Amino acid sequence: MCGIFGYIGHRNASKLLVKGLLRLEYRGYDSSGVVVKNGTLESFKDIGKISEMASSLPSLQGSIGIAHTRWATHGAVTRENAHPHLSNDGKVAIVHNGIIQNSEMLRKRLKKLGVSLNSETDSEIFCHFISMDLQEGKTPMEALRNVLSMVRGTWGLCVLFLEYDFVLCARNGSPLIVGRGKNEMFISSDPHAIREHTDQLVALEDGQIAKVDSRDVQVMQIDGRAVESSYLNLEEEWGESELGDYPHFMLKEIHEQAQSLQHCISGRLRHAEGTSVLGGLQIEPHNLAQLPHIRLIGCGTALHAAQIGQILIEQWARIPAVSHVASEFNANDPVINPDALHLAISQSGETADTLSAVKEIQRKGADVYGVVNVVGSTIARQCGKGVYIHSGPEQSVASTKAFTNMVGALALFSLQLGRSRHLSKTKGKSIAREMRKLPEKIRSYLENPGPIDEAVELVMQSKSVLFLGRGISSPVASEGALKLMEIAYIPCLAYPAGEMKHGPIALIEQDSPVVVIAPNDGVQDRTMNAIHECKARGAKIILIHEEGDPIAEIGDVSIPIPATIPMLTPLLSVLPTQLIAYQTALSLGHDVDRPRNLAKSVTVE
Ligand code: G6P
Repeated sequence: MCGIFGYIGHRNASKLLVKGLLRLEYRGYDSSGVVVKNGTLESFKDIGKISEMASSLPSLQGSIGIAHTRWATHGAVTRENAHPHLSNDGKVAIVHNGIIQNSEMLRKRLKKLGVSLNSETDSEIFCHFISMDLQEGKTPMEALRNVLSMVRGTWGLCVLFLEYDFVLCARNGSPLIVGRGKNEMFISSDPHAIREHTDQLVALEDGQIAKVDSRDVQVMQIDGRAVESSYLNLEEEWGESELGDYPHFMLKEIHEQAQSLQHCISGRLRHAEGTSVLGGLQIEPHNLAQLPHIRLIGCGTALHAAQIGQILIEQWARIPAVSHVASEFNANDPVINPDALHLAISQSGETADTLSAVKEIQRKGADVYGVVNVVGSTIARQCGKGVYIHSGPEQSVASTKAFTNMVGALALFSLQLGRSRHLSKTKGKSIAREMRKLPEKIRSYLENPGPIDEAVELVMQSKSVLFLGRGISSPVASEGALKLMEIAYIPCLAYPAGEMKHGPIALIEQDSPVVVIAPNDGVQDRTMNAIHECKARGAKIILIHEEGDPIAEIGDVSIPIPATIPMLTPLLSVLPTQLIAYQTALSLGHDVDRPRNLAKSVTVE
């Protein structure tokens, strides 16, 4: 989604800004732009690829500038609506992430005052109000505070001034961080864009504003009260994010799953006691015994991981658990039990719907633990406790290795919970033993992934694809369907296998492709019924099954995965679905890493 990058220093700003934007590219965008102070405020923006916008950039000398990638919310994808936006006197430029809810009213007010507006965006109002206040003699800080007192909504905002050598920033609900280099400062909405320049950063909190010059950042509350801000250290693992020999980040990240799962579980499993230790999820045994229930919240892929976590918790810890779509969570004024445990699951740690659910739970007196990938992200900080899943940077919009590590972290957590309650040491040890073998099994599957090409042949020209699974394979079916839909743009439907006869069966025609996830897990016989019902109507079955299982005969295309214990099968059965989605998108000529309309980090509700 929208991204911000800013530079204040002594080097050529325009080059650094373009580089910063390219680092934000993975988040999804439809237009981009930069503004540099070079005698005047010189702005360049365009729709389409950053590289195309950058190719029209003349060589600029300025060493202060701000830049933006836009993902349209208010107003179409046009050059005018792209950021930065400039005041009509050319003295103030802004870039903004987030949504201003009362922008219509503020636009009308500006028009009445005779200000001509140059875009359809909610963001443009900022530069005009600030510029009017400067003309009336207010300081830049006073002008910023004044406009912030008028707006309702969310913002990560940067303001550049023709007449001052600093950038003002503000944050409310949309992340903004400031990184310190040597006599140069960087601003970004995403640590990934700053990592190559510095590992020292200050993360603004909601309601804060900051003045950034080439040497330091001064953070304060919106009312002017000073804030003690200290620099955090960005973790090392966020360094390695280049493509290397892979053609796409998605393929690279699929292949990184063995190693990233290893990172997630190593050091956390305790084989001798048949348990695990997640430092951030240490709960006193007597509190555990009284836990009434656990709720898991997430969006997209994180939701599917939450659905798997729900089953793992119930199976191993015997605590009632339920997963929730984050965007729906607050809609029905949820009843929150302060004694219950809540988990917010998110790769980016910035998803607005998930963050909003976290705040609602906290408002109603309960704790939320984060299960998050991006270190120091908003959800991680808002929760204040939880675990990092340690996937390392994930750049493809379609999530793969983060899913694996979310499930891995939730499995560790369920094991820890189970062992603190009813799970026997013997059972715990056998789970820990199987978990330890998983990275190697992932590696061996990816070396020999089976007839993926045949599966791609079946799905790539079809009108729609049905994904079926039962029990713990049902969320895997949902994840497989999401992946194929996201990047191949084929309508996909995922259903619990037993529910197929209550609706989706109407879609089955001769040669309709149906992907069935059917590990040998104790509920497979009932999945077989659904397979027969589909086949009887002419469907072609793409069957994901465990190696050596005679069920293979029933598939039109059968893809074997290594066997494991039933509750851990999602970590293997998801792999062929990722490869099918990747290969299909590639065969259809789509941009695998940057699918249309999607964003990696969705920072609006
Ligand atoms: C977006 C992405 C999905 C992701 C979801 C949740 O929709 O396109 O891939 O699963 O957000 O993101 P999160 O960062 O909270 O896991």
